[in-house]
Amino acid sequence: MHVWRIPYPSCRKGESPDFTGDYPPLVTIEPDTEPRHLMKNRLRALLDEARDGFSLPQAFYTDHDLFEADIQAIFGGEWLFACNAAEISRPGDYLTLEVGRESIVVLRGPDGEIRAFHNTCRHRGARICTDASGSASRLVCPYHQWVYGLDGRLLHARQMPAGFDTSRYGLAPVAVQFVCGLVYVSMAPDPPALEGFRAAVTPYIAPHQPDRTKVAFTSTIVEKANWKLVIENNRECYHCAGSHPELLVSLVEFALPEDAEEEEGLAALMQDAARRWEALRLPHRPAEGGDEFRCIRLPFNRGAVSFTTDGKPACKKLLGDFTDPDLGSVRMFRAPNNWHHFLSDHILHFRVTPLCADRTAVRTTWLVHEDAVEGVDYDLERLTKVWLATNNQDRALAENNHRGVRSSAYRPGPYAPSEFMIRNFVNWYRARMGAFAGRPTAALARAG
Ligand code: FES
Ligand SMILES: [Fe+2]
Repeated sequence: MHVWRIPYPSCRKGESPDFTGDYPPLVTIEPDTEPRHLMKNRLRALLDEARDGFSLPQAFYTDHDLFEADIQAIFGGEWLFACNAAEISRPGDYLTLEVGRESIVVLRGPDGEIRAFHNTCRHRGARICTDASGSASRLVCPYHQWVYGLDGRLLHARQMPAGFDTSRYGLAPVAVQFVCGLVYVSMAPDPPALEGFRAAVTPYIAPHQPDRTKVAFTSTIVEKANWKLVIENNRECYHCAGSHPELLVSLVEFALPEDAEEEEGLAALMQDAARRWEALRLPHRPAEGGDEFRCIRLPFNRGAVSFTTDGKPACKKLLGDFTDPDLGSVRMFRAPNNWHHFLSDHILHFRVTPLCADRTAVRTTWLVHEDAVEGVDYDLERLTKVWLATNNQDRALAENNHRGVRSSAYRPGPYAPSEFMIRNFVNWYRARMGAFAGRPTAALARAG
């Protein structure tokens, strides 16, 4: 039986409740230990069922309890890509991330600092920022108008009794870190280290100067698919030939330099590119990211330099100090929720946030040089055409995948060799979920 526990004392009218303390606890309703224990047992059993090199058992894609476990274990514990700092460039600019039942607001304060908070009011818990993005000098809860500063402090709570201590009701903070202007947030009380990732990817992406960009366009689509199917679809190009005519004008269909060696034309393309990039001191060999992240520079098809329908540049003003438009793209992925392309003339960020077991938001941001002028240096339709089309094609693929996975006849299927990046992602996911479920590691199991 589910027993629900509300871990707060009652208080009489007119009294200030005296139970705020540090975080946690916030106003949370937690399932009692028994259902959580049962859920972890079930999670362990399902993880035992999962086989290396095969897609996951059905419940991982469709089950609502498993989705809740994903939110706690993965999205509650990891660093999540939120945005490029250029997306909130002025004091008061904010944007929100919806992650299952969680909501985070990321904002820039009057001091220029970027901070993040749980987007839930300390009065009775209402969402404070209800828009996906905006700009405000204060955060005002729409319910009873409690007013918060951009540093999260409660500034005003109307009609509260004399002596009410506003200093005890600030917004719950969320950790923030930066990687070359990319903003990562973590809801974990003690977030994992991000330094290894930052050190590994900075040499690849810093030359593109992501912190000296401006937003040209943003799109958010909600896909009727589990978030892992959305990520899995991104981690392979096995499907590209059948689905992405616009993308394949420029994108090469190999994921590792070694893959190019099998075809003479591709091998020469890779060798030429490697020679030029080494002369420019641009790293291109894959970074050592294990299953957690990937970063590599790969060329475009011969003659193509950007994601456009003719392969020609999308923006005349190149990023950073670049003078050569033919830099291919740095493809960067980091589990659990982001992938990116850094080109010579623009940057693309893709942010995945799960809404529920079968709904996932995919937010794409196109950034160009901070001084580029629309209509002069770039045409918005030309800049966005390929990835708007590709995103829509990927949405249809992920939704169709999700529909099929729900079948009673679904069984985990084997990955093709070219799907090795899905395998990396699924291995990462299984390891994280195993740790959450208290599952013995392989070494412990052997010892036992
Ligand atoms: S819930 Fe925010 S002011 Fe009441
Ligand atoms: Fe795709």
